[in-house]
Amino acid sequence: MTIDRAVRIYVSGVAIAAVAVLVVTRALPAVSVDAWGIGIFLLVGCLLELSRTTSKSGGVTGSLVFVFHLAVGLVLGAFWGAVTAAIAKLISQLYERNDGLKLAFNVSERAVSVGLTFIVYYFLRGQHPPPFLLPNVGTQITLGAAALQIGAFLGAALTYFSINSALVSTVVALATGRPVFKTWRSNTVWVLGYDLSASLIALGVVWFYVRTTGGPVSRLAFLALCVPIIGARHVYNKLSTLKDLFAELDSAYEQLELNVREQLQMMVKAIEARDPYTSGHSRRVCGLSRAIATDLGLTPEQVEEIENAALLHDVGKIHAEFAPLLQKEGKLTEEEWAVMKTHSTKSAELVSLFSRFQGYVVSCVRHHHERWDGRGYPDGVAGEAIPLGARIITIADTIDAMTTNRPYRGALPLEVVLSELNRGKNTQFDETLVDLTINSVTVRRLISDPTLIPEYIPSPKIRDRMTEARERANPKLQKFGAFRRAANDQA
Ligand SMILES: [Fe+2]
Repeated sequence: MTIDRAVRIYVSGVAIAAVAVLVVTRALPAVSVDAWGIGIFLLVGCLLELSRTTSKSGGVTGSLVFVFHLAVGLVLGAFWGAVTAAIAKLISQLYERNDGLKLAFNVSERAVSVGLTFIVYYFLRGQHPPPFLLPNVGTQITLGAAALQIGAFLGAALTYFSINSALVSTVVALATGRPVFKTWRSNTVWVLGYDLSASLIALGVVWFYVRTTGGPVSRLAFLALCVPIIGARHVYNKLSTLKDLFAELDSAYEQLELNVREQLQMMVKAIEARDPYTSGHSRRVCGLSRAIATDLGLTPEQVEEIENAALLHDVGKIHAEFAPLLQKEGKLTEEEWAVMKTHSTKSAELVSLFSRFQGYVVSCVRHHHERWDGRGYPDGVAGEAIPLGARIITIADTIDAMTTNRPYRGALPLEVVLSELNRGKNTQFDETLVDLTINSVTVRRLISDPTLIPEYIPSPKIRDRMTEARERANPKLQKFGAFRRAANDQA
């Protein structure tokens, strides 16, 4: 089924539900209403609907129109409440010249949400208006009776938010091809707390309304009360705009992160191009380090720092003095080794040029040739004085050196690699890390088949971002973008 057809069928279903809800609400015990009540709520409803301003990404909720919906139902009952809310929406939709499908959905959604809310309120024994809000009567109501009425109201408010968000999230999900629950969660949860607290404003509105039905002056006073509510709507818009701003900042930061990682990857490839035997070495060391760090139970942020250090651990070899050493066929002389050993400090110097890598990543790079017994280089530090990330990279580096073909020998089999690691416990390597590595299913799998390590290893955050970008690039998902935005803005 096409997205277009699915949306049309869904909107038709909501429209039929609206008629059914109105029929049911008509059958409930009548609530006495007067033309003034309906007229003033209609006016306030239209003002609220038209005072909406759209936010860039929109939120399914985030509007104070619901205060009006709850108040209108408390005063006029389920039927007239639903009818008034639907007519207010209809007028605002006609004023905004929205197309038929949007208009049908938005108006029907109002009737269903308000109607069902006050059907629930009726079954929770809620009264119109709640007696404890009435002048003279209010003070004679017992605390228990008032609590029951407040309970009925909160039950109705919860029903309203559930139905409203479910109806709107479903149409957004259908129009965008995204899962309903994911849409509901991303658009609704962040503001649900505000909505529930703000729903109590509806009780205040009703309290004021029942005191202002005595004459034209007091009725004008009720209208005056509605001005701050319409003003409060803008506070919600500001919240929504702030959320959009944070999302944009997040997106910009992740794009930057993606660019930095891609550039680093290119830099590393350029270095490795000099030596065919180490091609892909940094990427594999990065993948192995990631596997070990993850198995160790480190946080995603710690794993990412170690991954970055692993990717860049030999970056200092880009300096010209290392070129002849990397290309030399035979063994290195003692002098040449002395030069070669400076690569870890050279790498650390280069990595420290990136402000975001200063500190832990730089020290992991600097110490990736240290040994547990203190006989490594450049500083000869030992044991836990060597940063954990550097100890992990040392093991990953050694594994990759053993499992790749060299001019003087072929790749060593898994069992030989593991026994070499065992032999290096407490001299070259951290014993705990060796045990963890040997027992790691992931590491064994990567050693047996290094092609399993992806060409580019993005961070989890960037991976999510890339998935979303792919979704956005799908023209089928874009088709109803305009409808989705309108549906987002409508509530
Ligand atoms: Fe190295």
